[in-house]
Amino acid sequence: MSQTQERPAAGATLPTAAASTDTLTLGVVGLGYVGLPTAVAFVAGGGRVIGYDVSEPRRTAIAHGEVDLLPRDLDRLAGLQGDDRFVVTGDADRLAEADAIIVCVPTPVDHHLTPDLTALSSACQAVVERARPGQLLVLTSTTYVGTTRDLLDGPLRARGLEPGVDVFVAFSPERIDPANVDFPVEATPRVVGGLTPACTRRAAEVLRRTAPLVHQVSSPEAAEMAKLHENTFRAVNIAYVNEVADVCQRLGLDVTEVIGAAATKPYGFMRFTPGPGVGGHCIPCDPHYLLWQLRADRTEAPVVDATMRAIAARPGRIVQRARDVLAEAGTALAGARVLVFGVSYKPGVADIRESPALEIIDRLRRSGAEVSYADPYVKAISSDVIAVDDGVLISTDQPWRRAWDLVIAHTLHPGEDTHWLAHAGLVLDATYQLPAGVGTRV
Ligand SMILES: NC(=O)c1ccc[n+]([C@@H]2O[C@H](COP(=O)([O-])OP(=O)(O)OC[C@H]3O[C@@H](n4cnc5c(N)ncnc54)[C@H](O)[C@@H]3O)[C@@H](O)[C@H]2O)c1
Repeated sequence: MSQTQERPAAGATLPTAAASTDTLTLGVVGLGYVGLPTAVAFVAGGGRVIGYDVSEPRRTAIAHGEVDLLPRDLDRLAGLQGDDRFVVTGDADRLAEADAIIVCVPTPVDHHLTPDLTALSSACQAVVERARPGQLLVLTSTTYVGTTRDLLDGPLRARGLEPGVDVFVAFSPERIDPANVDFPVEATPRVVGGLTPACTRRAAEVLRRTAPLVHQVSSPEAAEMAKLHENTFRAVNIAYVNEVADVCQRLGLDVTEVIGAAATKPYGFMRFTPGPGVGGHCIPCDPHYLLWQLRADRTEAPVVDATMRAIAARPGRIVQRARDVLAEAGTALAGARVLVFGVSYKPGVADIRESPALEIIDRLRRSGAEVSYADPYVKAISSDVIAVDDGVLISTDQPWRRAWDLVIAHTLHPGEDTHWLAHAGLVLDATYQLPAGVGTRV
């Protein structure tokens, strides 16, 4: 392991590390959308990885390269099969081989929008039980403020391991943006806050092997809150721009023209675009970690609260507009043949977690519509995530060959042919990205 260096002040940003010559073994706990690209980037940077994931199907999918990654990372993964620098295992005891461990397991919310800390608690317990002197433990899952202290600091001390002396502990939030080729792991700066200055320093040394910049803060709590702030900021702006879209629709204005005009201001404005709602494991969930924590403290956050209510209401708004445009055309929603075009939560990924399309499909079906969907990235939707009579919904091939009473454009994947939508009859554009004259905006 590399020698420690002078401790930069909190708030300092470290430059890109030169390629490291010593081989550091990184344990990655959770090989999902975050953990897997992090792991392959680390090996590409000269390290060795012990990837631990509890899911056997996930480990098998990784072994077969059947995973949702950037093309560059898929190539890297293919090149690592059989390479002992990249071990994928279901045996947590192998984490003892690691010099440093990062934990990146899911932190979803349940049906009551309460944080579900099951995976994070069990992952931290597995890591704490096997922690050995000298190891660095970095929590990266998005979570409430104080998690690092609750799930790592306390339990490690109970084992007789003092953070900053025997082991090193930090929080460094993940910022991966799946399918974003402009910002892979190596192009995205990181924030890190350790339990002690030595913890921060040690974590920054490891993280800058893959990150271009490492910004140090004074505590894990500051790093935890920075992540919640980043994603709540996005949530607030998305909810607001959806509201602007609704206002423009009422006023007979083209919202994309209005946004384009506002975006010519070179300062003090950031472009957000309206859509059918938010999905994935971040924006629909993370602000609830903050709200949940504040509720216990009897502290109100009315802007965040209103934001999450607006976000939750968005799929219902899309269905109401579907009902309206069908009614204007003289067709009832009940019995109408409706195609939802694109169901993943964002373009270029197969991830349907929290996708607004799921609620839209569910609401349409409950209203009596005959609903189909088409998405080249999502071959089937099982009854686990949406109640379906026959247990599974299958993506419709060549949707342009069938007649629909209404097509709802939900997600437009890169390179996808959308020309046929100009001749598809009634189209409701929830993406706000179809060319002018194609479809009706939500
Ligand atoms: N997906 C994103 O775009 C993104 C971006 C930034 C941050 N995050 C955050 O990163 C964290 C991970 O998200 P993700 O999207 O990678 O999740 P994911 O569901 O894609 O992957 C998590 C993996 O962890 C495994 N796992 C679950 N419990 C485990 C345990 N106890 N031990 C070992 N492995 C376990 C699962 O089998 C799964 O393969 C979350 O906190 C999320 O909020 C996600």
